[in-house]
Amino acid sequence: MNSSNLNRRNWIRKTGLGAGAMVLGAQVIPWTAKANPAFGMSPLFKPMLVEDHKVIEKNLADLKARLLANENPYGPSPKAVQALKEAAIKGNRYVYNSSMEFAEMLADKEGVKGSQILISPGSTDILEKFAFATCLKGGNIISADPGYMSIVNTARAIGATWKNVPLKEDYSHDLKAMEAAVDENTRFVYICNPNNPTGTITPIEEIKSFAKRVSKKVPVFIDEAYIELMDGGESAVSLVQEGYDVIICRTYSKIHGMAGLRIGYMVASEDRVEKIMELVRTEMGISVTSLYAAMASTTDEEFLNKTKMLNGEARDYVYNSLKDLGYDPIKSHTSFILYPINIPTKDFAEKMLEMGVGIRVFTINDKPYSRVSMGTMDEVKYFIESLDQITG
Ligand SMILES: Cc1ncc(COP(=O)(O)O)c(C=O)c1O
Repeated sequence: MNSSNLNRRNWIRKTGLGAGAMVLGAQVIPWTAKANPAFGMSPLFKPMLVEDHKVIEKNLADLKARLLANENPYGPSPKAVQALKEAAIKGNRYVYNSSMEFAEMLADKEGVKGSQILISPGSTDILEKFAFATCLKGGNIISADPGYMSIVNTARAIGATWKNVPLKEDYSHDLKAMEAAVDENTRFVYICNPNNPTGTITPIEEIKSFAKRVSKKVPVFIDEAYIELMDGGESAVSLVQEGYDVIICRTYSKIHGMAGLRIGYMVASEDRVEKIMELVRTEMGISVTSLYAAMASTTDEEFLNKTKMLNGEARDYVYNSLKDLGYDPIKSHTSFILYPINIPTKDFAEKMLEMGVGIRVFTINDKPYSRVSMGTMDEVKYFIESLDQITG
């Protein structure tokens, strides 16, 4: 056994997690889990979505089309780059006051108080810290499957169990089943809207009425990473304004094109923000340069509108071209498209990499799928040509 395993075991013993869970390698298997026939889940809540071949762990230096992480090929905005350069000179100072300035700016935009905003180095940081703040003593969390796994993975790693609720046939969240899955050990419900990796949406009115009821029992966490790329996308932030125990999570990695600069934020009750701040000093992870870049990007309407338009054009092109090639892509509201493939995931990903195209592959319900992110028009055209060549 290596030392990290040993440390992990010691830590689990110390936190008392060992009392309710048996640790096998990285997986925590709850001995209290029961099969729930309503969800068709196995007693160990076998996930439907599995990333069994990780393309992001390969050498990606020479890609002709990098379409694997839902990055924005046009960003950051020129105004953000200028602000970043100008902020470099402030690099000797901690971000305290500047982060408050940004929090106030976001509070104005979201219609809440500055104290209800938590800024972080990317939204992954919020997802992980929220999982820490709620699941250190175990319990269970509920989310859709297939869905975005970041918060689920962290929660499971520290001892929570995952109740995965299959998406409905139209790929929207099965909110009825999710509500029925809430029990006295549930720590939170996670909703990703639009959802990754399907790119699909759940109607906002349904989410709102679900969250109004369910947040009286457990917090409802809503990840809106792609909401700005969606036509007519409406945030659920009004629920936070109305005082419900709802947490909204946003990122600067997508429409703002700042994935490598790491900025995200959470909008929630003061109480939820404080609970995280008691545990960790989130702002200590933010660089002053990224902060100023994000402030400039927030108001750069021209850049944001252009990104949305170009993303939409690439998405229409990819969707139609996939159809022309005989694929059955899922209609997406985001910057990526999921489509079933008919060769094994590893072979598919490797053939595409040989062509210089980086995409992602997943197994969903034992069937192979690929997810392609939108790039420039040149990149997505090259993707379609490559796809035609390797499978045609
Ligand atoms: C749904 C969703 N949430 C959160 C993230 C994390 O983004 P970041 O940590 O870059 O803000 C991603 C990234 O792809 C995502 O797809």
